[in-house]
Amino acid sequence: MERTFVMLKPDAVQRGIVGEIISRFERKGFKIVAMKMLKISRELAEKHYAEHKGKPFFEGLLNYITSSPVIAMVIEGKNAVKVVRSIVGATNPAEAQPGTIRGDYGLDVGRNVIHASDSLESAKREIALFFSSEEIYEYSKYDENWIYEKN
Ligand code: RTP
Ligand code: MG
Repeated sequence: MERTFVMLKPDAVQRGIVGEIISRFERKGFKIVAMKMLKISRELAEKHYAEHKGKPFFEGLLNYITSSPVIAMVIEGKNAVKVVRSIVGATNPAEAQPGTIRGDYGLDVGRNVIHASDSLESAKREIALFFSSEEIYEYSKYDENWIYEKN
């Protein structure tokens, strides 16, 4: 099983679509093992998006992500990193396939609703940035035998 970091960005909270988005991951069969609302500090935003420092959109990205509360989550499941990225869709919502979250809910690359880790390495780093180990829950879910052939 893999874990990945997902964040519903300020526009998702402001537009009242967090429930719909979380439902998509639940319906797919993923297990939510951590979740909280927080307002991201500039310091945390800079760490989270460190790879983009110096790029022309960096300042706008920091302003966007710190502008209002977000929902941070850790999602667990088979091939979670890759499968969650495919559910999220392409970075630019105008180019994202219909049926993906960005394809269904956005139009502007600077308001693309959701973040998901792009690799197992990023997932580990981002989970540790946002959650302490006590905030991540290990539990079994009654439907697991119906989602996986074997556990
Ligand atoms: P994310 O990290 O948020 O999940 O998005 P991503 O992997 O699909 O895309 P990434 O290249 O990591 O870009 C991070 C975020 O920066 C904003 N962005 N704006 N104006 C632009 O050209 C531009 N490019 C990227 C987006 O909010 C993107 O999600
Ligand atoms: Mg990224």
